[in-house]
Amino acid sequence: MNELREILASNNQKMKKILVTGGAGYIGSHTVIALAEAGYEPILIDNLVKSSKNIVTNLEKYLGRKLAFYQIDCNDKAAMYQVFTQEKEIAGVIHFAAYREVGESAKKPLLYYTNNLNSLAVLLEVMEKQGCPLLVFSSSCTVYGQATQMPVTEQTPMQPAESVYGNSKQISEEMIHDYVRSLSFVTEQTPDFRAIILRYFNPIASHPQADLSMGYPNDLIRMLVATAAGEREKLIVFGNDYPTYDGTCIRDYLHVMDLAEAHVKSLDYLIQQPTHEYWVRTFNIGTGKGNSVLEMIRTFEQATGQSLPYEIGQRRIGDVAEVYANTDQAQKVLGWKAKYDLATSLQHSWQWQLRKQQKGTT
Ligand code: UD1
Repeated sequence: MNELREILASNNQKMKKILVTGGAGYIGSHTVIALAEAGYEPILIDNLVKSSKNIVTNLEKYLGRKLAFYQIDCNDKAAMYQVFTQEKEIAGVIHFAAYREVGESAKKPLLYYTNNLNSLAVLLEVMEKQGCPLLVFSSSCTVYGQATQMPVTEQTPMQPAESVYGNSKQISEEMIHDYVRSLSFVTEQTPDFRAIILRYFNPIASHPQADLSMGYPNDLIRMLVATAAGEREKLIVFGNDYPTYDGTCIRDYLHVMDLAEAHVKSLDYLIQQPTHEYWVRTFNIGTGKGNSVLEMIRTFEQATGQSLPYEIGQRRIGDVAEVYANTDQAQKVLGWKAKYDLATSLQHSWQWQLRKQQKGTT
């Protein structure tokens, strides 16, 4: 009997509609697969400025069914209301939609503040008016700046942001906290809003079967696979005079499907908590291991058998020397832990490049 109740409860949960803003983006599209496979019903929003309709088509091909997709901008309040009205009973939102390129953010700060902050304000307002109480927010390890202790825990004090993009994520987190604090002034009824902020470390790789995007054009992982494929003559390592064990920068690289799974676990957790509560909790999502750029090159060569010519170049502006995660909280509270090891993640990254070449696309 108990078992039956559990199955019914879980079926009920799994029917829930989840709005995925930026659903055609890199992390968003991978999370759509994880959500669908966990039994949630993802509703996608994307303005397709940094993505394309092909991604939605490929998601549908992989999942074997149509997806609800709205090509709208999250800054468009009327359109956002329209989605909630049309879809009815959206149980929660995962808010990926944002710009995330450090260099671009230095050149176009207003674009970043409008796109990353205004859209969040619009979303929170629409969620409140539509009575949608659950939010998972995409933040980044960039909020730590150059932290003074490693690995960083969620309590590690944030340092000044190294970029406009990083600042937009620090402010976004503050906006969510301010919003939750404001709910304590609401007296007519007990507010019901729960948010999880996920601070991503460096996602790499791609779904091994679905035809989705991988990383961002100037990321280390895209440079690694492009160099191994001969599309670039060599990889430039941005500086080898950092205060790290081999002088190159250290990051925490995790498989994007592990990251996608962290969103499913976050939603499961949010849904299971008592209603009539309002709070926000923050989790680091990484592997817990730091790897230098030179280690990435060596591991890639070993895992794929490809050789990677490289050269040491200048430091890149905005890079911190090292950042990797303590992920104890995510494991303890959400029951999430990264499953893929680095070699497998790098093999999947290489397979993505090979598939891309076969199709003759960029
Ligand atoms: C990137 C983004 C950051 C985002 C984070 C997590 C940039 C500059 N940074 O961080 O906004 O929050 O992902 O998603 O866009 N490297 C080389 N040669 C290359 C490319 C990279 O040596 O050709 C090095 C970099 O100096 C860095 C490491 O590789 O030390 C990783 O770089 P990258 O993949 O761009 O990620 P992050 O800069 O850590």
